[in-house]
Amino acid sequence: MNLVVIGAQWGDEGKGKIVDFLAEDSELISRFSGGANAGHTIVTGETTYKLHLIPSGIIYPGKKVILGTGMVIDPQSMFEELATLTEQGIDWEGRVFISDRAHLVLPDYKAEDIELEKKRFNPIGTTGRGIGVTYAHKSHRDGIRIADMYDSNIWSRMPESYRTFLEPFKARIEKMKINLVAFMAEYKGKKVLFEGAQGILLDLDAGTYPFVSSGYSVAAGASVGGGIGPREIDRVLGVFKAYSTRVGNGPFPSEFNSERDGATEEMVRELGREYGVTTGRARRCGYLDLVALKYACRVNSIDSLVLTHIDVYDDFDEVSVCVAYEYEGETITDFPSSIEVMDGAVPVIKTFKGWNSSLKESTDYSHLPEEAQKYIEFIEEYTETSVDIISVGYRRSETFIRKDLWTRS
Ligand code: GDP
Ligand code: IMO
Ligand code: MG
Repeated sequence: MNLVVIGAQWGDEGKGKIVDFLAEDSELISRFSGGANAGHTIVTGETTYKLHLIPSGIIYPGKKVILGTGMVIDPQSMFEELATLTEQGIDWEGRVFISDRAHLVLPDYKAEDIELEKKRFNPIGTTGRGIGVTYAHKSHRDGIRIADMYDSNIWSRMPESYRTFLEPFKARIEKMKINLVAFMAEYKGKKVLFEGAQGILLDLDAGTYPFVSSGYSVAAGASVGGGIGPREIDRVLGVFKAYSTRVGNGPFPSEFNSERDGATEEMVRELGREYGVTTGRARRCGYLDLVALKYACRVNSIDSLVLTHIDVYDDFDEVSVCVAYEYEGETITDFPSSIEVMDGAVPVIKTFKGWNSSLKESTDYSHLPEEAQKYIEFIEEYTETSVDIISVGYRRSETFIRKDLWTRS
């Protein structure tokens, strides 16, 4: 059973928390895309773990994790992250595997990323981690894969600076590298969790291009970058927040605006602690965009939605969602491709009565106040997709499930 967890917005939906929550029942957790641009947070008890490259399943003792073919890996960042995990008491030795087809982020790629960003006529606000440059080298067929470090011809012809950078990691990575497709064949029929990075609206093809990242955030990426065939994906989970956030530049039709929405953005940002894990940047905040969420459900064949951050609205008298965009006298309900249309779109808002109570202690849907249930049911109706997991706080324990996701029915 292969279960895929992806971000259904612009990233930072709480994928790390949900993958960690589901990891308890799975045998293998595989990240299939992105690199150290991602920042996935897991909070258990009093400890906060911040992961960038290592899959979120690592926090559970004994669980094996994979860095898949679709990832771009900076070995220095990876070993720093692993050292931090060791300091935090996580025994990861023998549990971390890397696809030998994954590409390496080399030191000058990061500088190139920062330089490119300065020259862009459309600055994206990249994380400066060399992500786009590595994927570009890969497409140009000039990239360096994990396997290439052990290919004597390629190794000997590589620029000296690459060899100097890679040499200290070579022996350690050799023990971790795998032939992913063969490895995954051994797990056929077992419970495997695929962890996406970024979010669908940052996907190179499906996202708000050019304001996107360069990897696959779509569910199909679990196959392309995860070493399984497309028909092996059994269920897709799309994680979304009760509101929307975006880091960096690009269109955001439902973004809060102080003239119309007063201090809502500041309130949401502070209550939701909306600051980037990777760059520390304040995240832009807005209404939950159901036009975009419905698009995400369609593009990814989402079977189950996972709602996070609903607790952020606990003290709001009213909770609103965006149900359409108005643009030049037209009402739009299909997510557009034009940046101009998205930039000029005015969100059509539907407002619900707030629940004015704390949801943090809820462990079952029936515990939720009627107002919260009405809000969730509207989302389900609009997107034609059920909300099967609800997260009511950042801790692992503040999560409940509405149906077993590991069965096929
Ligand atoms: P990811 O990139 O999708 O894994 O998400 P991030 O870790 O970048 O950002 C999500 C942030 O929200 C983290 O600080 C989480 O600890 C936190 N978080 C996750 N779920 C919830 C939730 O249901 N409620 C609240 N208040 N915070 C949450
Ligand atoms: P997780 O997995 C939110 C954004 C950057 C920038 C754009 C391109 O934590 O959800 P890049 O460095 O990838 O070339 O930057 O994409 N971005 C993210 N935003 N969450 C992420 O990952 C992101 N990864 C990249 O802010 O706008
Ligand atoms: Mg994040």
